[in-house]
Amino acid sequence: MTLFNQTRQSHQNGDFKQALAGYQDMLAAEPDNPQLCYLLALLYFEQGQLDDATHWFSRTVTLAPEAAPAHYNLGVIFFEQGDYSKAAQAYEEATRLCPDDGDALFNLALTWKKLQQVDRALACYQQVLALSPGDQDALYNMGVLYKDMNQPADSIRFFEETIKNNADHAQALNNLGYLYHREGESDKAITTYKKLIALDHNATMAGHMLAALSGETTATAPDAYIRDVFDSFSDHYDDSLVAKLGYTTPALLREMLTSQENRRFPTALDMGCGTGLSGEAFQDLTDTLIGLDLSPKMLALAAPKNLYAHLHETDICSFLQDCRDSFDLFLAADVFVYIGDLSEIFALVRERAAPDALFLFSTELTSQDFCLKNTGRYGHAESYIRNLAQVSGFTVINVTAANIRKEKGEWIPGNLYMLGVH
Ligand SMILES: C[S@@+](CC[C@H](N)C(=O)[O-])C[C@H]1O[C@@H](n2cnc3c(N)ncnc32)[C@H](O)[C@@H]1O
Repeated sequence: MTLFNQTRQSHQNGDFKQALAGYQDMLAAEPDNPQLCYLLALLYFEQGQLDDATHWFSRTVTLAPEAAPAHYNLGVIFFEQGDYSKAAQAYEEATRLCPDDGDALFNLALTWKKLQQVDRALACYQQVLALSPGDQDALYNMGVLYKDMNQPADSIRFFEETIKNNADHAQALNNLGYLYHREGESDKAITTYKKLIALDHNATMAGHMLAALSGETTATAPDAYIRDVFDSFSDHYDDSLVAKLGYTTPALLREMLTSQENRRFPTALDMGCGTGLSGEAFQDLTDTLIGLDLSPKMLALAAPKNLYAHLHETDICSFLQDCRDSFDLFLAADVFVYIGDLSEIFALVRERAAPDALFLFSTELTSQDFCLKNTGRYGHAESYIRNLAQVSGFTVINVTAANIRKEKGEWIPGNLYMLGVH
């Protein structure tokens, strides 16, 4: 057997050492052989030795610029390393050489998306679809791109196409449910969420939204739903909520407090602290501020702001049940809109409240007790909060009506509360 054949066999059998020695020996004799350079690059690539692989794939394309697979693999490596400009160059070369390579086109689309070149990404997906009409991944990704571009009609069209080809495409169904709901097509949203739940009984987002759209009031939104919503919203949270939706609840709560009380709080607990907007508003009034939230991505954005002595990834009730400390101030800004029945939280806050502690929070309004609105958020009636305050051992010090944030251009009415312990 020739050295080439022996080396290829070692390579195929996964004998890295033997294959490496073989390629190196042959390259010593023929240093400009692009095939050997490519095979050695591939060997390194398969071993995860990406720097060596990059070197040898680059050498391959220097010696044989038409070697499309080497360009393609360089694209894969650059993409994995986060060097999207170089990845785009490599994939473009691969697709120029092999215009029918659907994988390269697909990867180029993902790369343009990373580079925020949405039109180019769309053009690549169109090419994939021209090559293989009905390609589910391309259809689905077109839907996602249009959703990100805030073009719901086009996005819906592509998600609908996706499920025509694969009725069980859970992510497309999830997106469709969300978009139908947002576009006011409640019946279609309900049917879509029902399909999703039939496919996946753990589809918490669908379960919660189905309850909301069907007028059913549950006790609380599931933890997994909250985590999903805020993990995916976290990157846009500060900008969206403050700049676009007019959210100023933390500042309003602070104003309510400081207009009546002139004191500092040795320990404060920010429940559902999110990215730290409420922490920012109250930090200078507290000595030790603790934050907790269900969403790791919201917490990751709060941490570098250095507002909190500790951040805990947990839900409010578990934290309060496990905690042995007491607090002088409790905050929950725009958090109770995700929890309907507040009786357990009120009882636990009261248990962990220091003498003279204050409890500040906001709610959206509803006419009686609490209800899950069709937005997926809960409203609480003032009478419900007053009753609960009384039975849990709080005094209502202040209730102020406030605009909580905008929804489709309209203010959502709510209340700000300041409770004390008695
Ligand atoms: C609308 S954001 C408000 C964040 C922050 N308080 C502010 O004013 O910007 C709601 C936050 O509450 C968190 N959250 C909702 N329910 C929770 C629960 N039961 N336990 C812990 N965190 C919760 C969410 O993860 C989210 O970060």
